[in-house]
Amino acid sequence: MVVVGGGGREHALCLSLNASARVDALHCVPGNAGTAQIATNHTLGMDIVGLVGLAVQLKADLVVVGPEAPLCDGLADACHEAGIPCFGPVAALAHLEGSKLHAKQTMEEAGVPTAAYQRLDAASDLDAALDAFAGDPWVVKRDVLAGGKGVVVTSDRGEAKAFIEASIKSDGFVLLEAFLPGEEASMLVVMDGTAYRTLPASQDHKRAYDGDEGPNTGGMGAYCPAPVVSASVHEKIVQRIVEPMHRHLARQDTPYRGVLFIGLMIDEHNDPYVVEFNVRFGDPECQVTLPLLKTDMYALLHGAATDGLGDVTLELHAGSAVTVVLASEGYPASPIKGRPLRGLDSLLEKTSYGQAWVNFAGVSTDENGQFIASGGRVLSCTALGADLSVTQQTSYELMNAISLEGGHFRTDIAHRAID
Ligand code: AMP
Ligand code: GLY
Repeated sequence: MVVVGGGGREHALCLSLNASARVDALHCVPGNAGTAQIATNHTLGMDIVGLVGLAVQLKADLVVVGPEAPLCDGLADACHEAGIPCFGPVAALAHLEGSKLHAKQTMEEAGVPTAAYQRLDAASDLDAALDAFAGDPWVVKRDVLAGGKGVVVTSDRGEAKAFIEASIKSDGFVLLEAFLPGEEASMLVVMDGTAYRTLPASQDHKRAYDGDEGPNTGGMGAYCPAPVVSASVHEKIVQRIVEPMHRHLARQDTPYRGVLFIGLMIDEHNDPYVVEFNVRFGDPECQVTLPLLKTDMYALLHGAATDGLGDVTLELHAGSAVTVVLASEGYPASPIKGRPLRGLDSLLEKTSYGQAWVNFAGVSTDENGQFIASGGRVLSCTALGADLSVTQQTSYELMNAISLEGGHFRTDIAHRAID
């Protein structure tokens, strides 16, 4: 089987799949230094023809797609044509992440709670629109795949207006959204045409620095489960969001077969609203969610890829998982790459989950075989345990054994559940 992608999320997928007795040959494209320990890495771009060609050549029985871009480009459609089961939706449904306007329209049709919004273009009265949402920070979203950089949340009217104007100029239109107050959570829902399975909710930390200060990032750390999603909140999410979205997605020509990432805001009344959909596992949410699953990962993913999810029972381990991301100096604006990473060699041998392990992301080797940081988010230190405070401490102990000049990480991951 083939895992597509090369980040911390794909390393987590490979670790979980490696634990399955049903996986005999694990391949990863392009993979990273961590997946190299447990899978055969293939140096190949994200070109759809090349990826499907490799899957055919390997006689793959399953393709699992990590990132959204190849899904939006039609990788699942191409696998389908080649007769290979694919975990990840076809392009028409991946559009839920590819276009925020499409996601809003889908939520309206399905009756799913989300923030009110206006679509603004060159003909719009921008001041009237800004007035309509005044009082709270303005939330402006570009309708493009921008890796988290297409959203501005600001109380500065001038900044909001400038971002709106620049976005209209480059994209033709932009969304202005009502600000949702509350606490964020992430819910991963594995689904196919017949069934869905909700994985335990987690919480990401999107801002770069402690106390939720600094710029938005891809995610600086996460923990699972997130207590903000209590049993009653979970029930509301299922009734108001998961059920209607699954009904909508299951009745499409090709049903949604993959994982739907629901970015949520839980308000002061414990009511859930959708902030965004992604059509893939979250990164770093994946790193803390998968280790809590007792269910065989191949059975879950292959089941969803083949409309067999109804036969898969979700079983969970007790306890919590925490992951802390190490980022390169300058991340997210302009990460400095190529610096040596020390302390990793003894950690690399971990090919299965234990008490603590490293999820590799932007790590490669130089000409002498030394580990170097090759990305903005370099790696994350993950721990699993019965008690969240102890687990948090364990992941920081692991982090403190690793050094990277200028590297930075947050020291308060999981604070909301511990304070
Ligand atoms: P998105 O890419 O849509 O997830 O937006 C990125 C981040 O901006 C989210 O994780 C939230 O922290 C914030 N955000 C987006 N939309 C809203 C909203 N309507 N209200 C409050 N915060 C938001
Ligand atoms: N951690 C949020 C995301 O993967 O988009």
